[in-house]
Amino acid sequence: MNRFSFTAVASAALLAVSSPAAFADAALAASNGCTACHQLDKKVIGPAYGQVSACYAEKDAKKMAANKAALMKHVIEGGAGVWGPIPMPAHPQLKDGAKNAELVKIIDWVMKDVKATECPKEFKRKG
Ligand code: HEC
Repeated sequence: MNRFSFTAVASAALLAVSSPAAFADAALAASNGCTACHQLDKKVIGPAYGQVSACYAEKDAKKMAANKAALMKHVIEGGAGVWGPIPMPAHPQLKDGAKNAELVKIIDWVMKDVKATECPKEFKRKG
């Protein structure tokens, strides 16, 4: 990552999140290449994380855990149809071990620390 993109990611992250831990998790999204297609508050190629947070918001802890598991599965396996016709590439390298733990942190960060925006009309949840 070059210095420009790190600065852009870091300042975007600072606007939306507050704690140092959340900041570290934002950096994980960048180091895993997610920021190439996802921003916090506007759709680029993939949905904004604020939209993901809005569409999957859930007060019940068990339902939230199920939502996070479904999101992780989609990131690992890739595919299209939830937010539109553009597919997300598969990320098999995030399936196991330390890299999987990084994905857990990224998804936790999206759901807990990224400010929810709006769930768009085209959102069509699987299952
Ligand atoms: C090449 C572009 C690209 C990259 C890189 C990418 N995504 Fe995506 N992502 C997409 C697209 C496109 C969608 C919408 C897929 C759909 O409509 O089913 C998406 C959807 C998502 C969703 C919502 C899934 C759902 O089921 O609603 C999450 C969460 C997500 N991405 C997280 C990530 C994370 C974390 C990474 C980095 C490890 C990542 N993405 C990397 C393009 C990308």
